Amino acid sequence: MERKRKRVFPVKLPQKRMAAGKSFFVLAVCLTVLCLCGCGRAGNGRRIVRVALGQSETHPQYLGLLAFKETVEEELGDKYEVQIFPNEILGATQKAVELTQTGAIDFVVAGTANLETFADVYEIFSMPYLFDSVESYFAVMEDSDTMEQIYTSTDKAGFRVLTWYNAGTRNFYAKKPIRTPEDLRGMKIRVQQSPASVKMMQAFGAAASPMSFGEVYTAIQQGVIDGAENNELALTNNKHGEVARYYTYNMHQMVPDMLVGNLKFLQNLPPQELEVFTRAAKRSTEVELEAWEQQVIQARKEAEGMGVEFIQVDVEPFKEKVLDLHQEMIQNNPDIAGIYGYIQSRNQRIRAWEERKEAEDIGEG
Ligand code: GCU
Repeated sequence: MERKRKRVFPVKLPQKRMAAGKSFFVLAVCLTVLCLCGCGRAGNGRRIVRVALGQSETHPQYLGLLAFKETVEEELGDKYEVQIFPNEILGATQKAVELTQTGAIDFVVAGTANLETFADVYEIFSMPYLFDSVESYFAVMEDSDTMEQIYTSTDKAGFRVLTWYNAGTRNFYAKKPIRTPEDLRGMKIRVQQSPASVKMMQAFGAAASPMSFGEVYTAIQQGVIDGAENNELALTNNKHGEVARYYTYNMHQMVPDMLVGNLKFLQNLPPQELEVFTRAAKRSTEVELEAWEQQVIQARKEAEGMGVEFIQVDVEPFKEKVLDLHQEMIQNNPDIAGIYGYIQSRNQRIRAWEERKEAEDIGEG
C-alpha cells in the first residue's frame, strides 16, 4: 500500500494569528533589508552566512552556533561573516527550513520532526521509547557512518545536515499533574507539527494539538491546550514553567536537533572551505553538548524557583501505551526499518554491558 505523506497543520490560535502576522512582517522586512544590503554581501564584500535558530541567546544551541561563527571567521574571516538569528525572528522553524531549502538563508537549526516531511527516515526519532538509555542515544548520534546516511537523505530536497545537537529527553508538562497515562485522557497536548508526533499523542490517549514551538506559551496560558511535552529548558528558556507547573518524567523521547545547510551553498564551497565549515559544525556540537549538561541542572533549579513541581513516575505504563507504534510505524514507513534494527542492536549491546558490569560489581562487593 502506498504511503501518503500528510502535512500536519497547526491548530488555530486567534490571538497568535496577529503574532504570526507580525513575525511574517518582521521576516519580510529582515529579508528585504538583507537583500537591499547586497543580497548576502556585507559592506566589506564578505559573504554573509545566515543561520536561523528558534531558541534564545542563552540556549546551548546559540552558544554552539557562536563557536561555529568563531571557527568559520577565524579561518575564513576575509570571505565570510556568520550572522545568527535567534528567537524564530526569521520565522517559525518549519518556515526557516523552507527558507534554507530555497537558499534565502544558509543554515537553520531544526528538530527532526521538522524534517520528516522532507525525508521519511527522520520519522525514526519521533518513535517513542526508541532509545533505551542516554548512552544508547549518544552512541547512535556519534556514529558518523550511520548518521551520514541520514544527513544526506534530504539532498533531494536541497539541504543537508552538518551536525546534531542534544535536545535532552522529552517529558510531559501541564497545568495539572500527570502521574499515570490515565491522567492524559481528555487532555489536549501540544505536539510538534509531524504526523508521527500526532500518532504518538493519540496512542498515549490524549488529544494532539500540533503547533509551532513559539505558540505554546500563549496556548497554555489561554487554555487552548492543557500542556505540552519537551525538555526542561522549555520551562525556563521559553518560560513555559510560568503557565504549566507540573513536569512529569515519563521520558518518551530523546530527539536531536540538526544543523541544516543549504545544499548548493555547501556544494559550491571549495573543498578547503567546506572542511572548515564541517569542522566548525563539529565544534559547535562539542560546545552545545557541554553547555546542555550544565543548563539542564540549572533549569531544574530555576523551574523549581518558578513553582514547577517535578514528578517522578513509573515509566512502564506509559511505555505500554505506545510500544505497538514501533511495528506500526515500520510497516507504514519501510525507510526506518534499517536504522530501527541498528538502534535496537545498540540498545541491546549497552544493556548487556550494563548487566555484566552490575554482576561484576556485585561479585567484587
Ligand atoms: C525543542 C527542540 C526544538 C523544537 C522544540 C519543539 O526545544 O530543541 O528543536 O522545535 O523542542 O517542541 O518544537
